[in-house]
Amino acid sequence: MGIISKLTGCGSYLPKNVVTNADLAKKVDTSEEWIFSRTGIKQRHHAAVGENTSDLALIAAERALLHAGVNGHDVDLIVVGTTTPDRTFPATAVRIQKNLGCDHGAAFDVQAVCSGFIYALSIVDSMLKAGQFKTALVIGADTLSRLLNWEDRTTCVLFGDGAGAVVVQAFEVDTNSFHDGGILSTHIHSDGSMEDLLYCDGGPSTTQTTGYITMSGKEVFRHAVTKLASVVTEALAANNLKDIDIDWLVPHQANKRIIDSTVKKLNMPKDKVVLTVHDHANTSAASIPLALDRAVHDGRIKRGDLLLMEAMGGGLTWGAALARW
Ligand code: COA
Repeated sequence: MGIISKLTGCGSYLPKNVVTNADLAKKVDTSEEWIFSRTGIKQRHHAAVGENTSDLALIAAERALLHAGVNGHDVDLIVVGTTTPDRTFPATAVRIQKNLGCDHGAAFDVQAVCSGFIYALSIVDSMLKAGQFKTALVIGADTLSRLLNWEDRTTCVLFGDGAGAVVVQAFEVDTNSFHDGGILSTHIHSDGSMEDLLYCDGGPSTTQTTGYITMSGKEVFRHAVTKLASVVTEALAANNLKDIDIDWLVPHQANKRIIDSTVKKLNMPKDKVVLTVHDHANTSAASIPLALDRAVHDGRIKRGDLLLMEAMGGGLTWGAALARW
């Protein structure tokens, strides 16, 4: 006998307020054409005043629980990937735990910026397989609009707000009989020597402010292309799989040109890629579960499909996960 962990439901939420490229061009020295041609972004969603990361995350979590047919009281682990917590402490995850009416188990946040969902999934997968918990919520939620410098046109057009969640459950299986494997493997990396390529210039122990996003765009782009290619190769090799075995690529949605380069590397048909960046820009830790939820609920992703998820973000951090839906 052994334990596998499986994705059993997903949900997501985007704030109602939509900001198009044309809206931005009215207040920033930019154009619809520049943003779309460089990134594939057409619009983003911005949280309303008073609408916090935990509010977006809670709706996504409730939708994921409903989809999985799981009661909030049965959740014994909540891990939130976020860079924009409601408070400096405690973790946003404990607020979600309270708001779900969940009174046992553990809840904490993970800070890996745009790789936050993959990091959170990796941690949860290990904890479930170790037999420590049974039913987990993995949430990616961010309100990066709160960290934007509207005087910096090279970054302020790229990001949006949103949340996505998955339910992950542990199942005991007979390892000698057929089972689909659930989450096959996760792979996470970081290289702190590149922290200055993409960071927020504030912090509780330095400026006592939250600060603004600062990015060397071209350098980040270059690293994204090479590191994502390397980590997807690593994930496939670890499972003795080939690119043709993948049913769906569900990538971090930062920039269509970065996604296109991974697709080229994997030699995948474009209709096997879930693309949502046009609709919500870069929502950091939320973007993979947002894309997953879109493709599950419109019927593209079906039970048993093999998913490859990948992301890179500030740190630099990067990672990938292979899972059967
Ligand atoms: N609107 C109009 N012009 C803009 C602009 C904007 N929003 N932002 C920058 N520009 C200008 C620059 O000032 C520059 O003008 P110049 O040539 O007169 O100096 C020109 O556009 C080209 O800038 P450049 O930085 O070379 O553009 P680029 O082709 O590298 O695209 C990014 C910029 C940010 C879109 C691109 O580097 C990128 O996508 N990087 C990765 C970002 C990312 O995904 N980060 C998150 C990872 S999780």
